[in-house]
Amino acid sequence: MKRLGVALIVGLLAASPLPVGGQPNSAAPDQTPKASASNEDKPSSYVPGLGEFMGRIQVDHAKLWLAGEARNWELAGYQLSELKEVFSDVQDLVPRYHNIPVGDMIDAIITGTVTELEGAIAVHDFNKFSASFDSLTAACNSCHQAANRGFIVIRRPAQSNFSNQDFSPAAK
Ligand code: HEC
Repeated sequence: MKRLGVALIVGLLAASPLPVGGQPNSAAPDQTPKASASNEDKPSSYVPGLGEFMGRIQVDHAKLWLAGEARNWELAGYQLSELKEVFSDVQDLVPRYHNIPVGDMIDAIITGTVTELEGAIAVHDFNKFSASFDSLTAACNSCHQAANRGFIVIRRPAQSNFSNQDFSPAAK
């Protein structure tokens, strides 16, 4: 399912004026300077997008908490698997960001806390869930600090920003 997200992002990149996958881009609006060939000298300008992945990760992180807080373990498990997939997309597509090995850092600091969360969700243990969730949040922040983004501080959501979604478990 997340593959769709990747395809979308790759599609967006292809629709940009930058040369991606050698596709001609006649449909792209011509807002590039005349010397558009100079883009080809800057492959680094097309990979970033890490901030966009992070925006999705922020949503998954919030929804994971809201689901766990509501003891909606099915949704929490789903949300955690979505979060994992986005991190794995980052590893595939943005393994290095401004010389920072984000792919390896994800293995080093995220994978363990995700496994802990999976364990807590499997046994429907809220105390374990909230402790592991805080470890995950600390891992987010430790990478931000290591990546010179220490001003991006993640915390537990205090309330839902998603008034159009009911986080309580569905009546069976
Ligand atoms: C492996 C390193 C790493 C990990 C782990 C990480 N981040 Fe990030 N995050 C970054 C970097 C680097 C940026 C800055 C990206 C940029 O400036 O384009 C960023 C940016 C962000 C942003 C700002 C993007 C925006 O659009 O506002 C948010 C929010 C964010 N991260 C949330 C999270 C959350 C939540 C987690 C944990 C679940 C997390 N990050 C884990 C490296 C990481």
